[in-house]
Amino acid sequence: MTSFCVEAEGLTKYFGSFKAVDNVALKIPAGSIYGVLGPNGAGKTTSLRMMLGIVDPDEGESRIFGERPQAVRHRIGYLPEERGLYPAMKAREAIAFMGALRGLGWSEGRRRAADFMTELGLERVIDEKIRKMSKGMAQMIQLVGSIVHAPDLIILDEPFSGLDPVNQERLEILVRRERDRGATIIFSTHVMAHAERLCDRIAIIARSQRRFEGTVEEARALLPMDVRYAPRADAAPEAVAALLPPGARLQNGIWHFPLADDAVEPLLAQITASHLGVATLSIMRPALHEAFVHIIRQVDEAAAGEVTA
Ligand SMILES: Nc1ncnc2c1ncn2[C@@H]1O[C@H](COP(=O)(O)OP(=O)(O)OP(=O)(O)O)[C@@H](O)[C@H]1O
Ligand SMILES: [Mg+2]
Repeated sequence: MTSFCVEAEGLTKYFGSFKAVDNVALKIPAGSIYGVLGPNGAGKTTSLRMMLGIVDPDEGESRIFGERPQAVRHRIGYLPEERGLYPAMKAREAIAFMGALRGLGWSEGRRRAADFMTELGLERVIDEKIRKMSKGMAQMIQLVGSIVHAPDLIILDEPFSGLDPVNQERLEILVRRERDRGATIIFSTHVMAHAERLCDRIAIIARSQRRFEGTVEEARALLPMDVRYAPRADAAPEAVAALLPPGARLQNGIWHFPLADDAVEPLLAQITASHLGVATLSIMRPALHEAFVHIIRQVDEAAAGEVTA
């Protein structure tokens, strides 16, 4: 049986008359990496804050390790969307300070700060003041500070935004390492590639509601296969077009078209029987990015329909 680290249900928040979050459930399996995805303004940050007990929900409730979130705050690490460290502190102190706020001893915090920074290849800035750092580097320091007390649950709101590709890679490694240590990690992002590589499960929030929950593979399976096919050079174009579905379009000598899963084998049989040959053939599931765009488009179209109806 799955045990859940977070069980939040019915989360709802109004800002004035605007329903920013509408009946959102977040059930996060213990020990997993979980992505909260959605467009700008969808309600991700507000949902995470209600989940954490930082914002009171108008409806619904959140349990973390079976308790009220406030009762387990020392077991939680949180990187908020709005970043901020004391500019006069050095990296080592800033990290130890954040740990101390969550119950970690000062000297232990300083020691762990050094270990983390060395592990990340950032030891050269450990005694540099935050004030002198680039925005991305300060964010890396804040990230380390949010997990230095070895929390059981880590919540990172847009942790990748503003990081260069090398630091993004470091963060991915860090997230996996924390998971391997036994922590549960929840992060929000707009960049599907991070979610695709890291997440065991994802939730997609759009226009205040949860529109999808499941694995990355389940999200991708919402879309048909993406086929690219080119016959042998001497094949007659009319014969090729007759074989392919009506939506197929020719681009730089290669036919592109979507294909339902159960139509893949019949098509392969037809191509073989036709003797048109194969110069290029790829049959791939579209990436999470495409599935995300598809889900958001459906939600937007439904909303536009409601307005005009
Ligand atoms: N304190 C507030 N007062 C009024 N409206 C708010 C407040 N906080 C958020 N909102 C509104 O609620 C909606 C959801 O905001 P939220 O920050 O949760 O979205 P998000 O999904 O995190 O977006 P982003 O990807 O841009 O971070 C937005 O329309 C936002 O303008
Ligand atoms: Mg946000």
